[in-house]
Amino acid sequence: MKVAVLKESFPGERRVALVPGVIPALTKAGLEVEVEAGAGLAAGFLDEAYEKAGAKLVSREEAFAADALLTVRTCGACGEGWCQDRDRLREGLILIGLCDPLSEPGPCREAAEKGATVFSLEMVPRITRAQSMDVLSSQANIAGYRAVLLAANTLPKILPMMTTAAGTITPAKVLVLGAGVAGLQAIATAKRLGAQVSAYDVRPAVKEQVQSLGGKFVELPLETGSSEAAGGYAKAMGEEFYAKQRELLGKVVAESDVVICTALIPGKKAPVLVTAEMVARMKPGSVIVDMAAERGGNCEGSKPDETVVIDGVTILGPTNLPAEVAHHTSQLYAKNMATFLAHLLKTGLPDVADDDEICRDTLVARGGELVHPRIREQAGLPPLEPPAEQPAAGESPESTES
Ligand code: NAI
Repeated sequence: MKVAVLKESFPGERRVALVPGVIPALTKAGLEVEVEAGAGLAAGFLDEAYEKAGAKLVSREEAFAADALLTVRTCGACGEGWCQDRDRLREGLILIGLCDPLSEPGPCREAAEKGATVFSLEMVPRITRAQSMDVLSSQANIAGYRAVLLAANTLPKILPMMTTAAGTITPAKVLVLGAGVAGLQAIATAKRLGAQVSAYDVRPAVKEQVQSLGGKFVELPLETGSSEAAGGYAKAMGEEFYAKQRELLGKVVAESDVVICTALIPGKKAPVLVTAEMVARMKPGSVIVDMAAERGGNCEGSKPDETVVIDGVTILGPTNLPAEVAHHTSQLYAKNMATFLAHLLKTGLPDVADDDEICRDTLVARGGELVHPRIREQAGLPPLEPPAEQPAAGESPESTES
């Protein structure tokens, strides 16, 4: 089986789906690996390194002749770049990468209509067995780190306490909203830089994790018992809950020098946790990094990939922090991808084991159709008919009907 790594076409995307280090394991597993020339350059991986690791350099056109295409972004996650590739798709071609199927199901549907098989890596379930394939976690972790550096760079203050002959500087106060993967790394990074860190999350279960990193958990008198859904993700709460939450968070936000927003409900618009009125109560010079800007934002007024200054408070809305540290994020992504590929091969790729949770959850399109129930729903399609029951041995089809 031949797999090919494409050079990313999304503007500003510097990551690459495989790094040279993971290629020997793939070739040992029986795969022929091809890499589009220049695919790893922006992440610091030279063509020669891929060749040395056992990959063959190819043009984009040649790459499309492979059995499977490996990407960081494909389908809906690829923006305009998707249009260039759409016409090259063919029946049986396998696409593996981030597809953004929940927000942008259209391109996955187009790929399905061309007969391609699509695996969306956002859909890897958050279960222990799949941890080593979980690209959202590996990338969000580094993004959380990067968000704190960005804030520190923008803040007209230093983060640590410093006692000098010219006086003592008190540590900056950093508040992290949402203590999932990105949030926990943001807490750890801000703590390492010497800030006074507090964090809030709707899932009470994360309190201990926040404290174990040296952060103070902000307790709000809110009923959060039902806030956790299956798979460790948060559930969407009602608008009444969010209004109460904002009211209670106001004071903590006003006292903070930095707020890092990471609150997410998968597949939904980001909940608004910081209103314009709360921003107005912050000290001038304070910084908010809204990691959810692409999904509508946790902070009112944040704009994707723009710096907005309101009442002296700088609000940053970076949408692709992992691409800013592409060398290491590619290394982690590639390891996730290689483990995922090995799993697919073990379960019979190009056929896919329907009884395997990882395959079932990530498989978006096959046999000309969108096959993932949640993504069909997002695309406005009716559920697929369950396959017809086979008649039991010795029974004629007629007799089963009667
Ligand atoms: P995650 O699911 O691990 O964490 C999100 C956390 O938010 C969960 O702990 C959840 O309980 C919490 N949460 C949900 N609603 C909340 C509320 N109303 N109040 C407080 N907490 C709430 O997600 P992960 O992987 O940490 O990603 C976080 C965010 O960062 C997402 O919006 C994701 O899209 C974004 N992200 C942005 C990047 C960028 O470059 N801007 C890169 C990677 C992720």
